[in-house]
Amino acid sequence: MKILVCGGAGYIGSHTILELLSADYEVVIADNFSNSCPEVIKRLEKISGTSIPYAEGDLDDQSFVDQLFEQYGPFEAVIHFAALKAVGESCLKPIEYYKNNLISTLNILDSMRKFGCHKIIYSSSATVYGEPEHLPIAESVGTSSATNPYGQSKIINERFLEDYAKADPEFIATALRYANPLGAHESGEIGEEPNGIPGNLVPYIAKVAVGKLDHLNIFGDDYPTPDGTGRRDYIHVVDLAKGHVAALAEMNTRKGFDAINLGTGRSYSVFEILNCYSEVCGRKLPYEIKARRPGDIAENYLDPTKAKEKLNWTAQYDLRRMLEDSWHWQSKNPDGYTSPADSK
Ligand code: UFG
Repeated sequence: MKILVCGGAGYIGSHTILELLSADYEVVIADNFSNSCPEVIKRLEKISGTSIPYAEGDLDDQSFVDQLFEQYGPFEAVIHFAALKAVGESCLKPIEYYKNNLISTLNILDSMRKFGCHKIIYSSSATVYGEPEHLPIAESVGTSSATNPYGQSKIINERFLEDYAKADPEFIATALRYANPLGAHESGEIGEEPNGIPGNLVPYIAKVAVGKLDHLNIFGDDYPTPDGTGRRDYIHVVDLAKGHVAALAEMNTRKGFDAINLGTGRSYSVFEILNCYSEVCGRKLPYEIKARRPGDIAENYLDPTKAKEKLNWTAQYDLRRMLEDSWHWQSKNPDGYTSPADSK
């Protein structure tokens, strides 16, 4: 069965490609490499020993998306990872975020309709829950109040899927609401490598650890949490990738839209992450306390019960393993995917 993976060269997408191939799916990647690069695909081919077809282009161009279905289809399902994803940046560039993240999803749905593809897994996020009233967050609380345009774009995309599922009885959609992914594939060949200065916590710490950045800026130590820093539910990216394979199987058992959390059910603070990373890389990593970042919340962590019940999926890896795998990837590839061949 062939799966179209939009954003398949990105961080979560690339790890999911490996899990799909292990589960005997065929894959086609569509990516514009705006926050990734073609070298990722070479690495995926090296790890898997499989040739992976890919098309470079923008999903906000309907003719490109139609062409994907025409040239590489038919597809059993689409997994849609492709999006702009930095919470802070989205507050500064809301138009770019809404245009990119909404139009691409509408184009994919339109092409799916034209070419008779009925299944989609959509990359959603814990950010759709906004500032939670209760922890852990269960899917049943609803999603009307994200604190930033990035999160709003995820909520609106979920609504597109829900509405389309009401209009087309054949349609099956799963929004997977992710906790914060960390870590890397055990090979150290693929990992998280954002363009420019990382916006997320652990990629930033990894750059400090490898000596590319001077110190971590901690955005606020006055949150109502035990050590004053923000707390999040962190999940190994390979666990997350496996959740997609489990979700594809579950979509054979029902129709319509569903939303499922992929998280661990616990949170860690910025200081806990920094201290654990210092242990893993063998050096006390420097930091400075800065003002809170716009759009941030104090704490979130997801209730993973529904994923266990419906997908038979539970996260396997602990924080230490996530950070060991992050460090393995970063120390083996200090310049990311452009690291010279002899350091790989
Ligand atoms: N943080 C710092 N310094 C940094 C970066 C982050 O102190 O340089 C702090 C943040 O303030 C926050 C925590 O580290 O308290 C985590 O921040 P991230 O940027 O790593 O992650 P977010 O929780 O803001 O967002 C991430 C993804 C989103 C996703 C969300 C789901 O970027 O795409 O997790 O919870 F929606």
